[in-house]
Amino acid sequence: MEKIVSLCKRRGFVYPGSEIYGGLANTWDYGPLGVELKNNLKKHWWKTFVQSRDDIFGLDGGILMNPKIWESSGHVKSFIDTLVECKSCHKRFRVDFLEGKKACPECGGKFTEPKKFVPMFKTFIGPAEDSSAIAYLRPETAQAIFVNFKNIIDSFHPKIPFGIAQIGKAFRNEITLGNFIFRSLEFELMEIEYFIHEKDWKKYFGEWQKLMENWIISLGVRKENLRWRSHGKDELSHYSKRTEDLEYNFPFGGFKELYGLAYRTDFDLKNHSKFSGQDLNYQDLETGKNFFPHVVEPAMGVERSLLPILLDAYREEKDKGSVRVILSLNPKIAPYKVAVFPLLANKAELVKKAKEIYESLKLNFNVVWDDRGNIGKRYYAQDEIGTPWCVTVDFKTLEDKTVTIRDRDTMKQERLGVDKLQDFFQTRLDK
Ligand code: GAP
Repeated sequence: MEKIVSLCKRRGFVYPGSEIYGGLANTWDYGPLGVELKNNLKKHWWKTFVQSRDDIFGLDGGILMNPKIWESSGHVKSFIDTLVECKSCHKRFRVDFLEGKKACPECGGKFTEPKKFVPMFKTFIGPAEDSSAIAYLRPETAQAIFVNFKNIIDSFHPKIPFGIAQIGKAFRNEITLGNFIFRSLEFELMEIEYFIHEKDWKKYFGEWQKLMENWIISLGVRKENLRWRSHGKDELSHYSKRTEDLEYNFPFGGFKELYGLAYRTDFDLKNHSKFSGQDLNYQDLETGKNFFPHVVEPAMGVERSLLPILLDAYREEKDKGSVRVILSLNPKIAPYKVAVFPLLANKAELVKKAKEIYESLKLNFNVVWDDRGNIGKRYYAQDEIGTPWCVTVDFKTLEDKTVTIRDRDTMKQERLGVDKLQDFFQTRLDK
């Protein structure tokens, strides 16, 4: 874990938030490589779950919504955490994270009585900071989907089962244990509300379990580090009849929630119908029946996904007396797809040819240029940030228009015609 945190900082994946002012606990900034990784992950998710399917529609709802939405959804009343404070060191802990411990895990001090609080951030719309101006930063993207349910039905007339998907920021006033990016105050959610007939909920719940698990495994997370865990009755969210967490075996404290899958029944549509006065029933055109569809909800965190991906991609290998660090990221999400080098930085003809290749690959892929140090060092630097392929332009290139392609995982090198490079990378990225 320390190695990942240090690599993330050093190579520009993740920086501590507000660092030059001493930081702000549980906030993180994503550097040039982190933003690429996150964007690639979201793009891949969108392609898999929205664009490749005919039954899922995309949405981008607002962060700020009418506060009545959070009353109708039950969040104002029931989205509650319980915390205690250590009387000696004044650290605060969420009771459900203490796993039954009766004394402060930091200093052994006694706890105050448990206190309940709503972890939604509040703000004010307009200049007056009174209760009528309160707005909440959304703690989940799901509600934008429920309140736009009728709009999407009216525009697209989907047949059940169908889903609505959204990726966006969510905010929670978390009491956290500071495990790097595992739990932060703001994060991005990738959520789908999948609308179904009530009788089919178990079937779709099972299908989504497989889809969620396969998706993260396809990004290199090892199956043996994953497991499903059912929420007990006292743990279920106010809207859920069944929740299963897909857990990952994190290096801090073992298995913890990676993703959540909830059977939200018709709770949300029913409540929004009741409190908004709008009819959010779905009309089945074949039977003519009106009803509130039930919902199965896969909810996946963007940043939460990054940790297992980085942890399971990280390898160290002995290589001719030194240690090679490799991030074996799936090429689809790797920040850079290709690095281009001239063999020697002081040979103008090599630099010119390499620049030409670099510029032409850049039209289709995120490509990086490197001409510092020797080739071995450049390979190592790219391995450490997960670049799947390096292209080297040498004197042979000037004679026969071929380059060397070196593979990150196998270190194998092959010669390929410059005119075949686009196809070579595209075929591998499409796999
Ligand atoms: N709409 C359902 C929902 O929000 P959740 O289990 O509370 O469910 C879904 O959150 C996912 O969001 C989690 O499985 C996790 O991946 C991510 N997540 C939740 N809180 C987070 C936090 N404070 N920081 C980072 N990721 C978080």
